Amino acid sequence: MVKNKPQEKSVKIKAKSVNANSVKTNKSFPLSMNSTITVICIAIAAWFGYKGYLETRVNTPYDGNKVVIASGLDIPDRYWGTYRSGVYFGLKTRDPHSLVTGLMWYSPHILRYDGSVLRHWCDQGDKLDRYAWLEHDGRTFGVQEIVDKSIILRTTFVKRPGGYHGGDWTARIAVSQKKENSREEISLLFYTAIEESTKGWIKANLGDYNRLTGIEGNTQGLGSFAINLNLINGTVEEHSFLATTASGLNVLKETVLQNLRIATQKGSAEKHIVLAGEQLLLSPEGKKKDPNFIVTQVTGKVPFEIEVSYESGSFSNRIDKLTGQNYDEALDKQRQLFSKKFENVFKLKSKGYTDDEMTFAKMAFSNLIGSIGYFYGTSQVQSTYTQGPVPYWKAPLYTAVPSRSFFPRGFLWDEGFHGLLISVWDTEIELDIISHWFDLMNVEGWIPREMILGQEALAKVPEEFVTQINTNANPPTFFLTLDFMLKHKEQELLMHNFKILDKLYPRLQAWFSWFNVTQVGDLPSTYRWRGRDETTNRELNPKTLTSGLDDYPRASHPTAAERHVDLRCWIAFAARVMAKIAETLSYPAQKYQETFEYLSDNNLLNKLHWSPNAQAYSDYGLHTDKVALRRPPQKQRSHSQSVRMEMVRVVSEEPSLKFVDTTFGYVSLFPFILQIVEPDSSQLGKILQDLRDPYLLWTRYGLRSLAKTSPLHMKYNTEHDPPYWRGPIWMNLNYLTVRAAYYYSNVEGPHREHAKKIYEELRKNLIQNIIKQYKKTGYLWEHYDNSEGEGKGSHPFTGWTSLVVLLMAEIY
Ligand SMILES: *[C@@H]1O[C@H](CO)[C@@H](O)[C@H](O)[C@H]1NC(C)=O
Ligand SMILES: *[C@@H]1O[C@H](CO)[C@@H](O)[C@H](O)[C@H]1NC(C)=O
Repeated sequence: MVKNKPQEKSVKIKAKSVNANSVKTNKSFPLSMNSTITVICIAIAAWFGYKGYLETRVNTPYDGNKVVIASGLDIPDRYWGTYRSGVYFGLKTRDPHSLVTGLMWYSPHILRYDGSVLRHWCDQGDKLDRYAWLEHDGRTFGVQEIVDKSIILRTTFVKRPGGYHGGDWTARIAVSQKKENSREEISLLFYTAIEESTKGWIKANLGDYNRLTGIEGNTQGLGSFAINLNLINGTVEEHSFLATTASGLNVLKETVLQNLRIATQKGSAEKHIVLAGEQLLLSPEGKKKDPNFIVTQVTGKVPFEIEVSYESGSFSNRIDKLTGQNYDEALDKQRQLFSKKFENVFKLKSKGYTDDEMTFAKMAFSNLIGSIGYFYGTSQVQSTYTQGPVPYWKAPLYTAVPSRSFFPRGFLWDEGFHGLLISVWDTEIELDIISHWFDLMNVEGWIPREMILGQEALAKVPEEFVTQINTNANPPTFFLTLDFMLKHKEQELLMHNFKILDKLYPRLQAWFSWFNVTQVGDLPSTYRWRGRDETTNRELNPKTLTSGLDDYPRASHPTAAERHVDLRCWIAFAARVMAKIAETLSYPAQKYQETFEYLSDNNLLNKLHWSPNAQAYSDYGLHTDKVALRRPPQKQRSHSQSVRMEMVRVVSEEPSLKFVDTTFGYVSLFPFILQIVEPDSSQLGKILQDLRDPYLLWTRYGLRSLAKTSPLHMKYNTEHDPPYWRGPIWMNLNYLTVRAAYYYSNVEGPHREHAKKIYEELRKNLIQNIIKQYKKTGYLWEHYDNSEGEGKGSHPFTGWTSLVVLLMAEIY
């Protein structure tokens, strides 16, 4: 493993020079015994010092000023927000330990004690028909619709500035149903909670009959505040509350369930089901001292609507309340501003899209920006010098997420794609996101690829994915975002935020250099993703998680001789963007320009990566196609029992060093995708021909990830791991392909017309299918089936799949 070499060297040299000096001293003094011991001691101390130094590098922050200088209340208009990406609805502030508010609901008729119908965290298992922010501007307001079987919940919120603690906000939750005449019963629970570290208190105010009239509190960030809940439409049959202590934000639902159980057990000995018609009451532990979790439960016959208003105590000159009609007006005004801005930015109406299509696009965009979260905590990281995982430093992360249900946390390479859509809408938000990510860089120039911060985030991640290893990369897609911003937002970038780019610059240099040094291949100008498992016999083709394309097939036998064409292109591209940024900031750009020219030299590229045999760009490595998963013969454990062994890989041909050219797909397209292949080259012609070929990558729904002709097309990687990047259609790389086709259709060259045709067709296919599948299923999906176009994998996945909006708008 290549570590940060220059640093290592200098320490070693120092240790040596200590020796040299001492040896000299030995000669001139007779008391050599003592000196020898001293020398040994110094050497040992130096060794331990050095070892300790190596151990701590992985979780030592990058040495330099932080990029984020304003956070929390420094940015009052983004202080409050829907920053809890993983819940259906809830607001919190951009503080490490914020007060949180949130919503749960259930149908009292069918609540089971296992809580499977109590909705709280976005969960695919809930099998909702759909839910998404239909409108959300990332700052001021949002409109969301949630369809849960026959029930429709509409959650909206609007903020209003005032005072010194981020102002007021009001939220509404309206429950209606699809069928007019069936009047179902629904219980809504709205809660307020604080953590131990929130530094503050909350309290339930009780009126007559022990009825909750409101919540008040005071925290370090918010000062004093009051929260009131009112019914504004329909009738409520039952109203109860709970004020208690929950042991953490990750067990709020469990705490509610436990209390519902207590309340019902009082009335009924039935263990498993609550009788229809009987009310479920939260036990009002209102007298409980120092609660950190206060829940109001409202049960009503649909339709009904509640309003929750939060008022900041420091907002002393408030003329009127943000409730009732004032709320309607404020929301209307924000919605109009949103629609106007949406048209200004994306121009879909003037491009002739229908109202339906525009509503879809607003949803796709809003659910991305509305999923932006604010997380705080420590990741687990590991290096070859640490015995096991060690904690990263405590840090905040402001970031969008790929999926509110399945991936409600930050992912490095996804975020670069999210940034394209977010930055055209709101440059300031995007720069803030980038700044947070770059502040997570360690002293080596490494940024962990998945950030799991805080109790709620951790609760959603399988153990094996928690620890991040500092030799592992992930595609440096923030260079895409920055390149895109230089192209579309240069004025804004330089006028307002010149300082941010300036501040980012040393970290960008460190990041580039980390890639350029640690991921280097055996031959000059070649690169290799680290982190493949060379010892496993479980996987048909050992995964390359670091490349972002998880199970996309590479050389069958990972070795140091491997070279990966996608990584080489990423680094060439990154060098080009670094040169542009350096030029923009009037720093020396030559080193980056030279690296870009060197890595994009098509002759060299072709020598290293063009397979003469397959006539396609390829990885190179120790490879054979003759692999298969087989189940070993059953083992007799005793006379009667036999053990079913897990399938293992069987290799029926000695692998040899060669181009890995039977795996045509996304990886082969990278010189095209990142616009490195020259417009007049014959390679470009061949690429366009191949990608348009329905027997290879082309489908009516977009480009599949791996050619149908590849031996590993749609193959399981272990008996438990279904194909992921071995056929399905992924939006992020399709977007880049469309963008590249657009580029090549706009530069002189013999393949211009062909590129144009592909551009138009591919773009149309993608947009049509994603909209069609949305209409059919209610969701944007992680990827799409490569034979029928159906949505597959996690959902809603409005992360990079929402790039469909940029395709519609033709912004590249
Ligand atoms: C109350 O609900 C009814 C039926 O859903 C709706 O027509 C009406 O506009 C609502 N009133 C208010 C004040 O929101
Ligand atoms: C990247 O690494 C290569 C050596 O592999 C070196 O020649 C080049 O100067 C480096 N580029 C930059 C910008 O540091």
